Amino acid sequence: MQGIQTTTSEREQTRVERIGAHSHIRGLGLDPTTLEPRGNSQGMVGQGKARKAAGVILKMVKEGRIAGRAVLMAGPPSSGKTAIAMGMAQSLGSDVPFTMISASEIFSLEMSKTEALTQAFRRSIGVRIKEESEIIEGEVVEIQIDRSLTGASKTGKITMKTTDMETVYDLGNKMIDALSKEKVIAGDVIVIDKSTGKISKLGRSFTRARDYDAMGADTKFVQCPEGELQVRKEVVHTVSLHEIDVINSRTQGFLALFAGTHRSLIKAELRDQINNKVSDWREEGKAEIVPGVLFIDEVHMLDIECFSFLNRALETELAPIVIMASNRGITRIRGTKYKSPHGIPIDLLDRALIISTGAYLADDIKEILSIRAQEEDVSLAPAALEILTKIGSETSLRYAIQLITLSNLVARRRKAAQVDVPDVRRVYTLFLDEKRSVQFLKEQNSLLIGEDGQIGGGAGVDAMEVA
Ligand SMILES: Nc1ncnc2c1ncn2[C@@H]1O[C@H](COP(=O)(O)OP(=O)(O)O)[C@@H](O)[C@H]1O
Ligand SMILES: [Mg+2]
Repeated sequence: MQGIQTTTSEREQTRVERIGAHSHIRGLGLDPTTLEPRGNSQGMVGQGKARKAAGVILKMVKEGRIAGRAVLMAGPPSSGKTAIAMGMAQSLGSDVPFTMISASEIFSLEMSKTEALTQAFRRSIGVRIKEESEIIEGEVVEIQIDRSLTGASKTGKITMKTTDMETVYDLGNKMIDALSKEKVIAGDVIVIDKSTGKISKLGRSFTRARDYDAMGADTKFVQCPEGELQVRKEVVHTVSLHEIDVINSRTQGFLALFAGTHRSLIKAELRDQINNKVSDWREEGKAEIVPGVLFIDEVHMLDIECFSFLNRALETELAPIVIMASNRGITRIRGTKYKSPHGIPIDLLDRALIISTGAYLADDIKEILSIRAQEEDVSLAPAALEILTKIGSETSLRYAIQLITLSNLVARRRKAAQVDVPDVRRVYTLFLDEKRSVQFLKEQNSLLIGEDGQIGGGAGVDAMEVA
């Protein structure tokens, strides 16, 4: 497609999210037709109303019916807001983008707040592009690779065939690497995308079914393709607007070298150009927009400028669904003197659908704790689970979950295979929960350093609680 590129042979480095705390969550645990929450499903327990509401929103996202909407998940700490968002992410289709940011990271990137938000928005909008591409599809007859003495450069040849023809192709360095990465050997049926150099293995050829050496338990056998080796095929791929931005700003000549990675600023003109191109493609039936989800956790950490940016950005034609989460009550909006529910300006709140999450019942806490114990491969004695449940109800679910790992360490030190009550007691006394920590501060205030740098001179806990 002239002008704007949408693919690159280099793979984008994806950001690694720290999702350890939610690794047990594999979906929202809803009945697929009625969207009713199931008791304990896909790692999800309780919080039925919020899960169902999330399911309804998800359904609308999947049908591509809504875009540019805002959803707020409001509830006390450790009531499952982030967990539900992760559940939504898992149930979106594989080509629907889901971006997760924590509001405070906007302030720590080496770019302006609005650039960071713009990038987050554009990461969350997919463009599904149909393209004709030329591929080579056939059975590998032979691969021959010559390494130079130093091993630095490689050349080679690959012989491929269909039932009707056979051809030898020259291999460059990159193709050789791709072949060895996919562990392609003679007898495999493969597809090479000529424009990107991407290689995918379809399976082993039936003619090699007797080659036991090269077979694993899950070897898939396919027919050797017929007809021409090189064919044109329509392929569909989905990229985010942000990826298109990055691919095209990199090719902007040598200055792009200094601009560095995708963390750098992308010019507004380039974005306009890309938006125009994408809307041309849509008219020509070559592309579709796939609005995804942008999840902004701890949204009360955004300031008034970010909020007005959000308001405006939600109104543009290319906007994703923005899901926000906050655990604040009536609190000051950052960057102003004014207070507002959840620390979010009223005009933004007004356009948001609000889902609330509440405290858990003891039974739910117990079930979540046992799911987590399983996830972390920890065996809990029934009495230990009881006491952890009690701790979870009286302090917070997150604190109780953390104690699982810690008490397991203690149990392992005494070479026990199972965590028992004394192990939990031990870590409970070693690590304070939030309430006990505040209590400790109150008692020890005279010994701690305060805001003015003086021991015991700080305004102390009371001031902290008001702030
Ligand atoms: N309904 C639930 N089902 C399963 N696990 C949950 C549920 N709610 C919360 N959790 C788990 O409890 C911990 C705290 O929840 P989290 O979603 O981080 O709370 P919040 O974001 O509301 O502060 C996380 O490890 C989360 O995965
Ligand atoms: Mg959270």
